[in-house]
Amino acid sequence: MTNKVVLHADVEKAVINRNIHGHFAEHLGRCIYEGIWIGEDSSIPNTKGIRNDVLQALKDLEIPVLRWPGGCFADEYHWKDGIGPREGRKRMVNTHWGGVVENNHFGTHEFFLLCELLGAEPYVNGNVGSGTVQEMQEWVEYITFDGESPMANLRRENGQEKPWSMTYFGVGNENWGCGGNMRPEYYADLYRQFQTYVRNFGDNKIFKIACGPNVDNYHWTEVLMKEATRFMDALTLHHYTIPGPEWNQKGSATEFTEAEWEKTMERALYMDELVTKHSSIMDQYDPEKRVALIVDEWGTWYDVEPGTNPGFLFQQNTIRDALVAGVTLNIFHNHSDRVRMANIAQTVNVLQSVVLTEGDQIVLTPTYHVFNMYKVHKDATSIQIHEASLDKNLHVSASKNAAGEVHLSICHFGLKDSAEFDVELRGWETAPDQAEGTILTADSMNGRNTFENPNDVEPQTLEGITIKDSKLSVSIPPMSVSVIKLT
Ligand code: AHR
Repeated sequence: MTNKVVLHADVEKAVINRNIHGHFAEHLGRCIYEGIWIGEDSSIPNTKGIRNDVLQALKDLEIPVLRWPGGCFADEYHWKDGIGPREGRKRMVNTHWGGVVENNHFGTHEFFLLCELLGAEPYVNGNVGSGTVQEMQEWVEYITFDGESPMANLRRENGQEKPWSMTYFGVGNENWGCGGNMRPEYYADLYRQFQTYVRNFGDNKIFKIACGPNVDNYHWTEVLMKEATRFMDALTLHHYTIPGPEWNQKGSATEFTEAEWEKTMERALYMDELVTKHSSIMDQYDPEKRVALIVDEWGTWYDVEPGTNPGFLFQQNTIRDALVAGVTLNIFHNHSDRVRMANIAQTVNVLQSVVLTEGDQIVLTPTYHVFNMYKVHKDATSIQIHEASLDKNLHVSASKNAAGEVHLSICHFGLKDSAEFDVELRGWETAPDQAEGTILTADSMNGRNTFENPNDVEPQTLEGITIKDSKLSVSIPPMSVSVIKLT
């Protein structure tokens, strides 16, 4: 069977917000410590304590926004523990993640330095679960106030004269679970109270983010939208792709069966239903779509790598993860009217990471390469694709950028056969006559990059694209993510 889609270059949907390429870095396992922060005295080359190799890899990815400090860690984090001379900072237990010592060497100043070096917008997640209104209020004042005040003066004493600019601020994380086990009615009231004191100082305008539902908890969305729509700019959604039958048996990241591959893809595709249903509830209270849906935790979650700390959530990353990334980003493109930020969990060494480190070595994962290939969709406008006949193992999205170039992304998560693919090109003033493509694939379903062989899975040129009489034809290999540019 030949798969047929019709690409309507003139039927434009919404702009794909660059922030759907956002990342999430928590004080968890070896994400912040070792993965990002190694300290100024490390023998690994660094910039003021931040490792240069990871920095460069993330800069190349042009990550637009970075969420920190958690996750579950956020609702136990007391920001004043992480400022001032490092040697004097409080040492505490990271109760959620492995019970290890958190020395607070990476705090507010280090996070804003990281964002500055990356050219990424900071997204700070405040503490509702175990914090106070005053603590949250003072953090925002410390970060953003330019005048004379106790917190602005404290910031100056700690070496930062000018305030930082901060747009994105989250009022709690997973407050239905690790952030306080609250009922939505209770959290909605707390949200209204806490956000009141998240102030705009000077020109700094905060985009207030309320904690949204876990997966299919539609009741949570309903209550939050009913009670607090006018106090928020965004509501979050968390959904992880977990192939295993239960929480304690999630499956291996590398040793899995074909059935587990299929289950993984099924769970990843479920994001479409979740976004559709949560958005339709939001539509009832916010038909103008002023409030964004931010999927600020997504990605694969498997059993930890054998022999590693179970609390560190370290997992390898294969071509299967690349397919999950491609499909999920496609879904966000197709829902770009409501989904205006997303943050994959997590940047380095935790869950579906783009970078893995071991000592002074780093590896770019297949997921990294998908983010790099999909950069072309950032800030472009999503365009209509009519799926005339499309195999269930194929998933597509397309966008048009300011220069009029169209990019088509095709994920083929079948395990065996290539898919013959015809694209009818409609709605161009002058039909495109050139196409070039990039493909990420692997020889086996657990193909991956390791510290011994870091370049096994890398993007290649997609060969064999023909374009004639407004029809593009191509053969797409199984287990692959492709991006085709039409000009
Ligand atoms: O990303 C790991 C954890 O998953 C986060 O800390 C939490 O928010 C979620 O449950």
